[in-house]
Amino acid sequence: MENALQLLHQRRSIRKFTDQPVSEEQIRSMLSAAMAAPTAHNRQHWQFVVVSQRERLDQLSEVHQYAKMLKQATLCIAVCGDRTQTFWEQDCAAATQNILLAATGLGLGSVWLGIHPKPEAVQNVRRLLAIPEPYVPLCLIAIGHPAEEKPPAERYDEAKVHYEQW
Ligand SMILES: Cc1cc2nc3c(=O)[nH]c(=O)nc-3n(C[C@H](O)[C@H](O)[C@H](O)COP(=O)(O)O)c2cc1C
Repeated sequence: MENALQLLHQRRSIRKFTDQPVSEEQIRSMLSAAMAAPTAHNRQHWQFVVVSQRERLDQLSEVHQYAKMLKQATLCIAVCGDRTQTFWEQDCAAATQNILLAATGLGLGSVWLGIHPKPEAVQNVRRLLAIPEPYVPLCLIAIGHPAEEKPPAERYDEAKVHYEQW
Protein backbone atom coordinates (compact mmCIF):
# COMPACT_ATOMS: atom_id res chain seq x y z
CA MET A 1 0.00 0.00 0.00
CA GLU A 2 2.84 2.36 0.81
CA ASN A 3 4.26 1.56 -2.65
CA ALA A 4 0.91 2.43 -4.22
CA LEU A 5 1.02 5.88 -2.62
CA GLN A 6 4.60 6.37 -3.84
CA LEU A 7 3.52 5.40 -7.35
CA LEU A 8 0.85 8.12 -7.38
CA HIS A 9 3.50 10.75 -6.69
CA GLN A 10 6.09 9.23 -9.01
CA ARG A 11 3.80 9.46 -12.03
CA ARG A 12 4.87 12.51 -14.02
CA SER A 13 4.29 13.53 -17.62
CA ILE A 14 7.22 12.17 -19.64
CA ARG A 15 7.65 13.66 -23.09
CA LYS A 16 11.05 12.28 -24.14
CA PHE A 17 11.49 8.63 -25.07
CA THR A 18 14.12 6.19 -26.29
CA ASP A 19 13.41 4.08 -29.38
CA GLN A 20 13.12 0.83 -27.37
CA PRO A 21 9.70 -0.70 -28.05
CA VAL A 22 7.10 -1.41 -25.36
CA SER A 23 6.56 -5.18 -25.06
CA GLU A 24 3.27 -6.99 -25.73
CA GLU A 25 3.22 -8.03 -22.08
CA GLN A 26 3.56 -4.42 -20.92
CA ILE A 27 0.77 -3.33 -23.27
CA ARG A 28 -1.48 -6.07 -21.90
CA SER A 29 -0.69 -5.02 -18.29
CA MET A 30 -1.59 -1.40 -19.01
CA LEU A 31 -4.85 -2.35 -20.73
CA SER A 32 -5.72 -4.67 -17.89
CA ALA A 33 -5.10 -1.83 -15.42
CA ALA A 34 -7.30 0.46 -17.55
CA MET A 35 -10.19 -2.00 -17.45
CA ALA A 36 -9.86 -2.35 -13.66
CA ALA A 37 -10.97 1.28 -13.29
CA PRO A 38 -14.37 2.17 -11.84
CA THR A 39 -17.22 3.06 -14.23
CA ALA A 40 -20.71 4.37 -13.57
CA HIS A 41 -23.04 1.37 -13.09
CA ASN A 42 -19.99 -0.75 -13.96
CA ARG A 43 -20.90 -0.26 -17.65
CA GLN A 44 -17.34 -0.40 -19.04
CA HIS A 45 -18.43 1.13 -22.36
CA TRP A 46 -14.87 2.01 -23.28
CA GLN A 47 -12.69 0.99 -26.22
CA PHE A 48 -8.92 1.30 -26.59
CA VAL A 49 -6.98 1.76 -29.82
CA VAL A 50 -3.35 0.66 -29.50
CA VAL A 51 -0.98 2.21 -32.03
CA SER A 52 2.67 1.24 -32.49
CA GLN A 53 3.25 1.72 -36.24
CA ARG A 54 5.78 4.52 -36.70
CA GLU A 55 3.94 6.19 -39.57
CA ARG A 56 0.65 6.33 -37.67
CA LEU A 57 2.36 7.66 -34.52
CA ASP A 58 3.90 10.41 -36.64
CA GLN A 59 0.49 11.26 -38.08
CA LEU A 60 -1.02 11.37 -34.58
CA SER A 61 1.71 13.80 -33.48
CA GLU A 62 0.05 16.36 -35.77
CA VAL A 63 -3.47 16.12 -34.30
CA HIS A 64 -2.81 19.22 -32.21
CA GLN A 65 0.12 21.40 -31.22
CA TYR A 66 0.77 19.70 -27.85
CA ALA A 67 1.07 16.15 -29.21
CA LYS A 68 4.50 16.47 -30.82
CA MET A 69 6.17 13.99 -28.46
CA LEU A 70 4.31 11.21 -30.32
CA LYS A 71 7.08 11.50 -32.90
CA GLN A 72 9.39 9.94 -30.27
CA ALA A 73 6.94 7.72 -28.39
CA THR A 74 6.90 4.08 -29.45
CA LEU A 75 3.30 3.51 -28.37
CA CYS A 76 0.04 5.41 -28.20
CA ILE A 77 -3.24 4.32 -26.65
CA ALA A 78 -6.41 6.19 -27.58
CA VAL A 79 -9.02 5.94 -24.82
CA CYS A 80 -12.49 6.13 -26.36
CA GLY A 81 -15.91 6.33 -24.75
CA ASP A 82 -19.49 5.89 -25.90
CA ARG A 83 -20.89 9.43 -25.82
CA THR A 84 -24.46 8.15 -25.45
CA GLN A 85 -23.57 6.97 -21.94
CA THR A 86 -23.86 9.32 -18.98
CA PHE A 87 -20.50 9.79 -17.23
CA TRP A 88 -18.51 8.49 -20.22
CA GLU A 89 -15.84 11.15 -19.75
CA GLN A 90 -15.32 10.28 -16.09
CA ASP A 91 -15.19 6.55 -16.89
CA CYS A 92 -12.54 7.09 -19.55
CA ALA A 93 -10.58 9.50 -17.35
CA ALA A 94 -10.39 6.85 -14.61
CA ALA A 95 -9.13 4.30 -17.17
CA THR A 96 -6.60 6.83 -18.45
CA GLN A 97 -5.18 7.50 -15.00
CA ASN A 98 -4.86 3.75 -14.43
CA ILE A 99 -2.86 3.43 -17.66
CA LEU A 100 -0.55 6.27 -16.59
CA LEU A 101 -0.02 4.65 -13.20
CA ALA A 102 0.53 1.20 -14.70
CA ALA A 103 3.07 2.68 -17.12
CA THR A 104 4.92 4.28 -14.20
CA GLY A 105 4.89 1.00 -12.29
CA LEU A 106 6.35 -0.79 -15.32
CA GLY A 107 9.20 1.73 -15.57
CA LEU A 108 7.70 3.36 -18.68
CA GLY A 109 7.10 7.05 -19.34
CA SER A 110 3.73 8.40 -20.40
CA VAL A 111 1.75 11.58 -20.91
CA TRP A 112 -1.99 12.28 -21.22
CA LEU A 113 -2.88 14.23 -24.39
CA GLY A 114 -6.31 15.83 -24.17
CA ILE A 115 -8.52 15.36 -27.25
CA HIS A 116 -12.22 15.68 -26.27
CA PRO A 117 -13.78 18.31 -26.09
CA LYS A 118 -11.65 19.96 -28.81
CA PRO A 119 -13.76 19.35 -31.97
CA GLU A 120 -10.86 19.58 -34.43
CA ALA A 121 -8.66 17.23 -32.41
CA VAL A 122 -11.53 14.74 -32.04
CA GLN A 123 -12.11 14.86 -35.80
CA ASN A 124 -8.39 14.35 -36.55
CA VAL A 125 -8.05 11.36 -34.21
CA ARG A 126 -11.36 9.87 -35.41
CA ARG A 127 -10.17 10.04 -39.03
CA LEU A 128 -6.66 8.64 -38.39
CA LEU A 129 -7.84 5.79 -36.18
CA ALA A 130 -11.17 5.07 -37.92
CA ILE A 131 -13.13 5.47 -34.68
CA PRO A 132 -16.85 4.93 -35.34
CA GLU A 133 -19.75 6.87 -33.80
CA PRO A 134 -20.95 6.99 -31.05
CA TYR A 135 -17.39 6.56 -29.71
CA VAL A 136 -15.29 9.64 -29.00
CA PRO A 137 -11.55 9.72 -28.20
CA LEU A 138 -11.25 11.31 -24.76
CA CYS A 139 -7.48 11.38 -25.00
CA LEU A 140 -4.35 9.86 -26.42
CA ILE A 141 -1.64 8.52 -24.14
CA ALA A 142 1.92 8.74 -25.46
CA ILE A 143 4.00 5.92 -23.97
CA GLY A 144 7.58 4.70 -24.25
CA HIS A 145 10.78 4.00 -22.39
CA PRO A 146 11.67 7.28 -20.68
CA ALA A 147 14.57 9.47 -21.82
CA GLU A 148 14.02 12.02 -19.06
CA GLU A 149 13.57 11.87 -15.29
CA LYS A 150 11.33 14.02 -13.13
CA PRO A 151 11.06 14.26 -9.35
CA PRO A 152 7.90 12.96 -7.64
CA ALA A 153 5.02 15.46 -7.60
CA GLU A 154 4.39 17.08 -4.21
CA ARG A 155 1.61 19.61 -4.61
CA TYR A 156 -0.33 19.36 -1.37
CA ASP A 157 -1.99 22.72 -0.73
CA GLU A 158 -3.90 23.19 2.50
CA ALA A 159 -5.61 26.28 1.02
CA LYS A 160 -7.56 24.01 -1.34
CA VAL A 161 -9.02 21.84 1.40
CA HIS A 162 -12.25 22.53 3.29
CA TYR A 163 -13.48 20.53 6.23
CA GLU A 164 -17.21 19.93 6.83
CA GLN A 165 -18.23 22.99 4.75
CA TRP A 166 -16.49 25.37 2.32
C1 LIG B 1 -7.02 16.56 -19.47
C2 LIG B 1 -5.52 16.66 -19.67
C3 LIG B 1 -5.03 17.04 -20.90
C4 LIG B 1 -3.65 17.13 -21.11
N1 LIG B 1 -3.18 17.41 -22.37
C5 LIG B 1 -1.85 17.47 -22.60
C6 LIG B 1 -1.35 17.68 -23.92
O1 LIG B 1 -2.12 17.81 -24.88
N2 LIG B 1 -0.01 17.71 -24.09
C7 LIG B 1 0.87 17.55 -23.05
O2 LIG B 1 2.07 17.60 -23.28
N3 LIG B 1 0.42 17.32 -21.77
C8 LIG B 1 -0.91 17.28 -21.53
N4 LIG B 1 -1.39 17.00 -20.27
C9 LIG B 1 -0.43 16.76 -19.17
C10 LIG B 1 -0.35 17.96 -18.21
O3 LIG B 1 0.31 19.03 -18.85
C11 LIG B 1 0.39 17.52 -16.93
O4 LIG B 1 -0.32 16.47 -16.33
C12 LIG B 1 0.56 18.66 -15.92
O5 LIG B 1 1.40 19.66 -16.45
C13 LIG B 1 1.13 18.17 -14.59
O6 LIG B 1 2.39 17.56 -14.77
P1 LIG B 1 2.65 16.03 -14.36
O7 LIG B 1 1.73 15.17 -15.18
O8 LIG B 1 4.10 15.77 -14.67
O9 LIG B 1 2.36 15.86 -12.89
C14 LIG B 1 -2.75 16.88 -20.04
C15 LIG B 1 -3.27 16.49 -18.80
C16 LIG B 1 -4.63 16.36 -18.62
C17 LIG B 1 -5.17 15.87 -17.28
